[in-house]
Amino acid sequence: MMTTETYRIIPLNSTFDRNSFDCDSEPLTHYFRHFVTQDIKRKLTNCFILTNTTHQIIGYYTLSAHSICLSDLPQQMKKKLPRYPTIPSIKMGRLAVNQPFRGQGFGGVLLIDALKRAANSEIGAYALLVDAKDDNAVRFYQHYGFISLLDKTDTLFYPLLNFKTV
Ligand SMILES: CC(C)(COP(=O)(O)OP(=O)(O)OC[C@H]1O[C@@H](n2cnc3c(N)ncnc32)[C@H](O)[C@@H]1OP(=O)(O)O)[C@@H](O)C(=O)NCCC(=O)NCCS
Repeated sequence: MMTTETYRIIPLNSTFDRNSFDCDSEPLTHYFRHFVTQDIKRKLTNCFILTNTTHQIIGYYTLSAHSICLSDLPQQMKKKLPRYPTIPSIKMGRLAVNQPFRGQGFGGVLLIDALKRAANSEIGAYALLVDAKDDNAVRFYQHYGFISLLDKTDTLFYPLLNFKTV
């Protein structure tokens, strides 16, 4: 459980030691240690970290502009949308929690923050989209109400209209 310690979610900056980050997914660890800053510099993504008072990185997620093919959305959602071939969205390309902090609610905190950030964006976006790396990750996103795209069970989305910001 998160305690009374102060936590912040902020854009990643160079004062943090990314090499101390290790989640159980080698690609997600490697990307964060070695490639995320290059993608940020090229404006391909933005990365947000959850950190504590001792400057540790508890977890991270990345957000980028994206689009969903209208034909990939379930019928009941498609019928409420205009017939544009693609629907604007925001993609959370990666989400991971540092191993020692797993199972303490931090993944959920990061996911809700990403939804809030996407829902509050001044740029129009219909949904937050995620790629789940395995069935376990699919269940994690389903736990929060994410829905799979048609025929693409590993890609899930959450309509931002449904997300109530507080
Ligand atoms: C997936 C991940 C981000 C979850 O983070 P976490 O901090 O361990 O999870 P939390 O403790 O925040 O769990 C929050 C809630 O989700 C639930 N949950 C966590 N993992 C779950 C799973 N695999 N299936 C279903 N529910 C899950 C928890 O039970 C908890 O529910 P509650 O709030 O109702 O009690 C983390 O395990 C991780 O970094 N995994 C490796 C990378 C990864 O798989 N990323 C996913 C995107 S590809």
